[in-house]
Amino acid sequence: MARIGGARGLPLAAALLVFLQMSSSAFEVKDQSGKVCIIANLSVSFSVEYLTKNRQQLTAYFTLPQNAEVLANKSSCGKENASDPVLAIGFGEGHLLQMNFAKASKLYSVKELTFLYNLSDTKVFPNSTGGTKTVLQKPNIQADLDTRYRCFSTNQINLLNVNITLSNVTLQAYLVNHTLSGNETVCDADKTPTTPVVATTTSQTPTTSQAPTAPPQNPGTGKYNVTGTNGTCVLAYMGLQLNVTYLRKDGKTGLDVLNFVPVNTSFSGSCDNSSAFLNLTFGETRLVFRFLLNTSTDKFFLQGVNVSTTLPSEAKDPNVEAANNSMSELRATVGNSYKCNAEEKLWVKDGVFVNLFNVQVQVFKIDENKFGAVEECQLDENNMVIPIIVGAALAGLVLIVLIAYLIGRKRSHAGYQTI
Ligand SMILES: *[C@@H]1O[C@H](CO)[C@@H](O)[C@H](O)[C@H]1NC(C)=O
Ligand SMILES: *[C@@H]1O[C@H](CO)[C@@H](O)[C@H](O)[C@H]1NC(C)=O
Ligand SMILES: *[C@@H]1O[C@H](CO)[C@@H](O)[C@H](O)[C@H]1NC(C)=O
Ligand SMILES: *[C@@H]1O[C@H](CO)[C@@H](O)[C@H](O)[C@H]1NC(C)=O
Ligand SMILES: *[C@@H]1O[C@H](CO)[C@@H](O)[C@H](O)[C@H]1NC(C)=O
Ligand SMILES: *[C@@H]1O[C@H](CO)[C@@H](O)[C@H](O)[C@H]1NC(C)=O
Ligand SMILES: *[C@@H]1O[C@H](CO)[C@@H](O)[C@H](O)[C@H]1NC(C)=O
Ligand SMILES: *[C@@H]1O[C@H](CO)[C@@H](O)[C@H](O)[C@H]1NC(C)=O
Ligand SMILES: *[C@@H]1O[C@H](CO)[C@@H](O)[C@H](O)[C@H]1NC(C)=O
Ligand SMILES: *[C@@H]1O[C@H](CO)[C@@H](O)[C@H](O)[C@H]1NC(C)=O
Ligand SMILES: *[C@@H]1O[C@H](CO)[C@@H](O)[C@H](O)[C@H]1NC(C)=O
Ligand SMILES: *[C@@H]1O[C@H](CO)[C@@H](O)[C@H](O)[C@H]1NC(C)=O
Repeated sequence: MARIGGARGLPLAAALLVFLQMSSSAFEVKDQSGKVCIIANLSVSFSVEYLTKNRQQLTAYFTLPQNAEVLANKSSCGKENASDPVLAIGFGEGHLLQMNFAKASKLYSVKELTFLYNLSDTKVFPNSTGGTKTVLQKPNIQADLDTRYRCFSTNQINLLNVNITLSNVTLQAYLVNHTLSGNETVCDADKTPTTPVVATTTSQTPTTSQAPTAPPQNPGTGKYNVTGTNGTCVLAYMGLQLNVTYLRKDGKTGLDVLNFVPVNTSFSGSCDNSSAFLNLTFGETRLVFRFLLNTSTDKFFLQGVNVSTTLPSEAKDPNVEAANNSMSELRATVGNSYKCNAEEKLWVKDGVFVNLFNVQVQVFKIDENKFGAVEECQLDENNMVIPIIVGAALAGLVLIVLIAYLIGRKRSHAGYQTI
């Protein structure tokens, strides 16, 4: 369904490079009478993971541009006890960065930082599938009332698929004098210059409504067939997942889990008397299964798997080609089908696995395009053992209770008769 994992961190070096090119700009929110109630001067950089049309996961890096502007009709000075002051900054093709403020006795804070991004903006999100997404979180930004908040250090706010990095921040809400206060509240990161540059927020509860990448799920079950000279020679129902662990450009380890989407998977293949291919293509990923016939035992089995795929661009080597041609999996007697409900992990090479879900497969001899008798895999049979033991134990227990009851009844009958 989706590539999962991938980017594990905006590399610090890249982040610093981005910042060097950044400039700060000042934003002001005014009320109807023209009084300024919020001033903010800050640099913002974004990294956003998104999926492309061919289901690759990319990360877009961009900054708040020069032409970003306060959206007057989305911003507000707020009404006491009724609504919050809001700073809404619009940029690019419909992107929105918004801060909602709140105050309590002597403090004010950013109650919510919201980022709405438009995936149809192909300048920022090339090859994206489009649509808009909204992420929001409470960042760690607060200051004493009537002071300006100052944080020159970077403050990275991590959401599920978006990181927002603030730096060179000077801001103040609930302005008294229409200008920044002479007094300032300095953030902790600025107070201790020996600590690392990146200050993370304390609140880490992402509240993404719609995440571009879902948590790992099982792939859907696809139905694949190959036709040979004597009719259908490969029939396979299965869910397919590719799991690749790879080295990233920054030296860290990336993980790419790709679920094949059956409707978007094309298949082909060929068969001869003793070998059969099933070739599957999903986006830029191609799998080839090679089945062999063992004529002495009259069994078919999966002998080889070839994988070729393209990893996210953060990978040091995005092109993966892997093969294992010494397998002996999915084995069953010709005319029967192999079946396994448990997940089967096929090792292709180090860091490359093809995971199979809900497999049923039959090769070479298939009558009327239907599966023959089922040969269940060992894993499923092992899973059956526990229910059988439990069932047998329960049956035994019922029997004991029944016998005890019958004996008891007989005794009490005997008792009545003596009276
Ligand atoms: C955000 O940062 C975290 C930790 O620094 C990292 O694991 C994650 O991959 C980053 N996400 C993006 C979209 O850059
Ligand atoms: C912050 O502001 C200082 C002074 O204007 C500037 O030298 C520095 O590059 C800025 N940093 C960022 C990340 O914008
Ligand atoms: C914003 O802050 C930067 C330094 O962080 C400063 O150089 C710049 O002049 C400020 N802009 C405004 C409009 O105050
Ligand atoms: C907000 O203002 C912009 C132009 O400044 C306008 O295009 C947009 O329709 C307005 N939105 C609302 C909700 O009034
Ligand atoms: C807002 O609420 C506080 C206490 O809850 C009250 O003292 C104050 O008068 C209220 N202000 C307005 C404008 O209603
Ligand atoms: C976008 O898609 C085209 C064609 O599919 C491809 O050539 C190009 O490299 C893609 N761009 C990115 C940034 O992935
Ligand atoms: C408001 O501005 C005046 C002078 O312009 C200054 O004396 C006063 O301290 C300011 N008040 C606050 C709360 O900043
Ligand atoms: C600014 O700080 C000074 C000294 O700490 C204090 O006397 C003054 O009241 C403060 N002004 C504001 C507006 O908080
Ligand atoms: C799979 O089976 C369908 C229906 O029996 C048939 O139309 C199709 O050609 C077969 N595909 C292959 C690759 O053999
Ligand atoms: C299937 O893959 C094998 C091995 O790469 C190749 O020899 C064969 O031509 C492919 N068949 C089809 C129909 O794509
Ligand atoms: C097709 O069937 C014929 C006759 O049963 C047999 O001789 C031949 O080997 C079969 N071909 C394949 C590819 O199984
Ligand atoms: C992917 O493979 C790695 C090891 O290579 C493993 O730790 C991880 O659990 C696998 N993930 C899935 C979803 O199979």
